[in-house]
Amino acid sequence: MSFMPLGPMQEPRPSDTVLALIEAALNSDFVAVRRLGTTLVGSLPERERVGTQERLTRLFRGAGGTRPPHAMAPLDVKTKSPLVEELPWPTGPLFLDDEDSQLLERFIAEAQAADELAGAGLAPRSNLLLVGPPGTGKTLTAGHIAARLGLPFHVARLDTIVSSLLGDTAKNIRGIFDFVQREQGLLFLDEIDAVAKQRDDARDIGELKRVVNTLLQGLDRLDHRCVVIAASNHGHLLDPAVWRRFPYRLTVDRPAEGLRASLWSHYLSLDPAEASIANALAGMSEGLSGSDVAEIALAARRTAHLKRTKVSFSAIAGALLDCANGKFSLPTIGELDRDATLSLRRAVGERFGLTNGQLSALFSVTYEAVAKDARVKRAGGKQRSGLAQQSGAAADGTPTAGARDRRR
Ligand SMILES: Nc1ncnc2c1ncn2[C@@H]1O[C@H](COP(=O)(O)OP(=O)(O)OP(=O)(O)O)[C@@H](O)[C@H]1O
Ligand SMILES: [Mg+2]
Repeated sequence: MSFMPLGPMQEPRPSDTVLALIEAALNSDFVAVRRLGTTLVGSLPERERVGTQERLTRLFRGAGGTRPPHAMAPLDVKTKSPLVEELPWPTGPLFLDDEDSQLLERFIAEAQAADELAGAGLAPRSNLLLVGPPGTGKTLTAGHIAARLGLPFHVARLDTIVSSLLGDTAKNIRGIFDFVQREQGLLFLDEIDAVAKQRDDARDIGELKRVVNTLLQGLDRLDHRCVVIAASNHGHLLDPAVWRRFPYRLTVDRPAEGLRASLWSHYLSLDPAEASIANALAGMSEGLSGSDVAEIALAARRTAHLKRTKVSFSAIAGALLDCANGKFSLPTIGELDRDATLSLRRAVGERFGLTNGQLSALFSVTYEAVAKDARVKRAGGKQRSGLAQQSGAAADGTPTAGARDRRR
């Protein structure tokens, strides 16, 4: 597994960025001002960065009296809303497995050397298609590539530009490609299957073909410096001709166990000594996306921050038990009492086959206490069901929804 940070090699020194920002402002180059401003704020120490990023976003949205962003962005033929939005580069890391990472590095290397390759008659087609379920990091990947290439991150959501009038859809698509050719940024075509999906609704197949053709022409007309990344949750719906325009394809799946451990470690801000916690949580979160892990981990950290306590790994374990039972949940806010905690610990241990060491780390109890409980449990099934009833737990030791809800 590997990790593709906004590496120091690619990041300019803050003093260069400040000068470039001033120059861009003097030249009224607002796309560059937004990009450089985002870079500068991203380089601030963490405690300053979060608040400043929010203020910057407000400024970009025009709340601070600045020029509205994307003044030059193409507008929807009918609604007149912008078809392309420029998003800031991501500031957090992207976790990928080695194979995916290698493919992206190759894509980036070719896009960086586009001019040189074109000079040798080998102009690359820098088009990458990302296919995978929601929350697997497709948008994040595209943002990282934009950052690595130092290009503005222009995002167009095709599902929002598809109009009931196919003629308007085609005009919108042309508008997007003209803009990207002019701005020479990275175009991220999100939900690219929206155009293909329209086939089911379209009464006039001939007209739909013209829409797909507009997309193909747009892709073909871009010069070798333009980079296009498209994303889809439904790769099978894509027109084969569109598919062929993307020589780089990445199927992003829900992360495997090793990658999940890295995600838990990062989003819970664990230190290396807590690797066993990350590994235990990774083993318990099979089937979750990177986004699910981030949501659960950040919810637990927010609760801990507000309550001025440590992050509750047992509450995370409870949420993962719900997830494993098919119900996505965030960690509970309230404290469980002793009996309910014991029931939860047993249920989690059984469901995920955890070792006594893992249970002791997750539930902050001594190894001996867990081992003793395991002996007690083996010795008396009857006692356990009595305790379960008292504590509002089901006979199998799982706290009932009511018992857990009462403590939220
Ligand atoms: N591989 C990953 N590395 C780091 N964080 C990740 C990863 N995958 C997902 N995340 C987290 O999940 C969030 C959502 O990911 P993202 O929006 O990129 O998913 P997506 O595949 O584009 O989803 P959708 O199909 O719904 O648009 C990210 O902002 C990040 O916090
Ligand atoms: Mg996305």
